[in-house]
Formats: sequence, structure tokens, C-alpha cells
Amino acid sequence: MNRRSFTHRVLAVGLLGAAGITTRPQPAKADPKLSLRKVNPADYELTVFRSPTCGCCEDWTQHIQSAGFLINDNVTEDMEAVKQRYGVPAGLDSCHTALVGGYVIEGHVPAEDVQRLLAEKSNVTGITAPGMPMGSPGMETDEDTAPYTVYSFKADGTVAAFAKHA
Ligand code: CU
Ligand code: CU
Repeated sequence: MNRRSFTHRVLAVGLLGAAGITTRPQPAKADPKLSLRKVNPADYELTVFRSPTCGCCEDWTQHIQSAGFLINDNVTEDMEAVKQRYGVPAGLDSCHTALVGGYVIEGHVPAEDVQRLLAEKSNVTGITAPGMPMGSPGMETDEDTAPYTVYSFKADGTVAAFAKHA
């Protein structure tokens, strides 16, 4: 050991000791899949607003109910008012709108994304699958499906990719 590295080591140990810091190995970073287990959908009531004529909205509600969420189903003729009330950004809207755990869920968002959002407690207004992506939950089809992205949105206008689905 040369003099220089010896000096550095002594200095480092001294600083750590002074700050009361121990040098135990850090635990491995949490696996995001493990955090999913912290959320039990049965602990959440998910409020759905949907139009009486929307079949895919019923299919999505079925999907989210099958994942274990408790459903509070609301049929309304005025989805525009619902979207305005809950701050769904224009251009990122879809058919139905749902509320769960203080978040807004817009459109055909997969249940796994809803669970992740609740587990991560993300600082966002909600998440959306804009439009009606073919192949998303409630939009199952035998025809061509396209990859789609679920976006998060905030009241200040911030929009970010939340999850990509093939
Ligand atoms: Cu739809
Ligand atoms: Cu819908």
C-alpha cells in the first residue's frame, strides 16, 4: 500500500466513524414486480363512469373486476362532463373514465398498470390509454393489434410514458 492510498483510507474511515455511518452492504434494489404484491385489488373500490351504449367499456369493467377490484359502476349520458370534472387532458381521452385510490384511470388501461400505479403511489393525476388501442383489455380482437403506450398525466400538463404494451 502506498502512502497516498493509506492516507485516503484512514481519512474515509475517520469520516464514516464521525458520521456514525456503518458500511454494511446495501440491500438489493426492490424488484418492481415485488411491489405489485403490496397492492391487493380487493382493498380498492374502483368507480367507473361509462356511457350506456359503450360495449367495450363494459368489457374493460369486466377485465378490471376479474383482476379483483371492487366495482362501483356508473352509467351516464354525459362522459364529457366526467372527463372535465376529473381533469382528463383533451387529446388523451378515451371512452370510459374510472377513479381509484385518488387516481384517474382513463380508457382501456390494463389492470397491471393500475396496480403498479397504486403500489408506486406515483405523484400524478392519473394514467390513460388514449383512444381505444386494438388489443388492449376490453378491445380484444382477432385482427391486427398495434403496440400502445399508457401515459401518466398531471394537473400542470406534464405527460409521460407510464407503460408500453406490445
Ligand atoms: Cu372503449
Ligand atoms: Cu370504455
